[in-house]
Amino acid sequence: MNDLLYVNGGNPLTGTITVRGAKNFVSKSMVASLLGETPSILRNVPQIRDVKVVSGLLDLHGVNVKYDTDAGILDLDPSNVESAHVADIDAHAGSSRIPILFCGPLLHRLGEAFIPDLGGCRIGDRPINYHLDILRQFGAVVDKRPNGIHLRAPRRLQGTKISLPYPSVGATEQTLLTAVRADGITELTGAAIEPEIMDLIAVLQKMGAIISVDTDRVIRIEGVDRLEGYSHTALNDRIETASWASAALATGGDITVKGATQPEMMTFLNTFRKVGGRFDVQDDGIRFWHAGGDLKSIVLETDVHPGFMTDWQQPLVVALTQATGLSIVHETVYENRFGFTDALRKMGATIQVYKECLGGRDCRFGQRNFHHSAVVSGPTPLSAADIEVPDLRGGFSHLIAALAAKGQSTVRGIGLIDRGYENFQYKLESLGAEVVRG
Ligand code: EPU
Repeated sequence: MNDLLYVNGGNPLTGTITVRGAKNFVSKSMVASLLGETPSILRNVPQIRDVKVVSGLLDLHGVNVKYDTDAGILDLDPSNVESAHVADIDAHAGSSRIPILFCGPLLHRLGEAFIPDLGGCRIGDRPINYHLDILRQFGAVVDKRPNGIHLRAPRRLQGTKISLPYPSVGATEQTLLTAVRADGITELTGAAIEPEIMDLIAVLQKMGAIISVDTDRVIRIEGVDRLEGYSHTALNDRIETASWASAALATGGDITVKGATQPEMMTFLNTFRKVGGRFDVQDDGIRFWHAGGDLKSIVLETDVHPGFMTDWQQPLVVALTQATGLSIVHETVYENRFGFTDALRKMGATIQVYKECLGGRDCRFGQRNFHHSAVVSGPTPLSAADIEVPDLRGGFSHLIAALAAKGQSTVRGIGLIDRGYENFQYKLESLGAEVVRG
């Protein structure tokens, strides 16, 4: 597959596209199928690389995976789950962060698990200390080896009290996927409560789990002896939706995103409106457009749900280069998520990054040498350039910048975007973009 996209930018994107299931839910829900004694069915599954990666890992462990790509339906039969060969698992090293979530289900089913070196976007150190601490608390024995991590459960895992130092999405999912079949009650405080996590809880409840979500980020799980398969339709991808909305704003366009839903987008919609974007919530999607006139600069801080998602930040920053005045963006989830602005500067944007916590409260990264705040001064016309995709969301931001810039840009490393954006080239073309794979 060619990894280059030539983008002839400077034209507004207009038209209608469709988003399907959320990447950051679908992959976890696929892992949950390992916990069931009977087959599961997942609908609204997008054709993205992360789904392929997780399908491959499930297959290695004996899960029979059937994927009807057009219908977006996955059939997952875990009747013959078995230990995979280390060498086979190792072939998946570096491809995604999802393998770490296989631990709990495999420990329940097989008494052991092997996790290769993890991949995922390089937007910070992305440690797994919370995950390993959690698994140890349930009673797993963790053995770090040169090529990965071996875990075993000398006896049935035990429910426990866990307190997260930060509401990590992955660590919350790790707890859920392990606690549902552990012996006794698990109480998780400081949990993440993202909509994708709530949908995972819905899946686990369908399987037979007993989970209650209390106020103040407390989740209680009563372990059960047996779980069945599930049948579920994935919630739609709110990160992809916001990415297309930002593309509409940055290019002066008008995009209707079919499948977009309002409740998960509330915080984004408020910000979109403050910047000067217009939207119309319809029965089957949301229309986003640039109303003409100047866009407004804003002060923005990323946060865990219900705050402004870190994954919405990168695409929106491109639109902020077209807003009048100084915008301040404080990234509080990842310490290193402004690397993508190098390319925007090359294209003419005025963006300065700072180590200080700008714009609001102090965060975990203050005084710690991380460039995690940015000041964007606009509007600045963007000009075409030769740029390289740094990570998934940063990569989509580069695409948006290239689409907004006059002239022909070359965007390299475009394959990374396939990890989380289904058929993005087709969608771009249907919105009137002039793009050609090189
Ligand atoms: N963290 C630790 N130790 C851990 C785990 C996390 O220090 O053991 C820190 C991270 O370094 C980070 C913060 O906690 O600073 C939050 O990380 P979190 O665990 O919440 O992130 P994640 O589960 O690894 C998921 C999504 C990300 C999304 C974040 C936040 C998936 C596969 N990934 O990552 O999505 O940004 O939650 O919402 O669900 C993307 O889709 O492009 C993406 C990066």
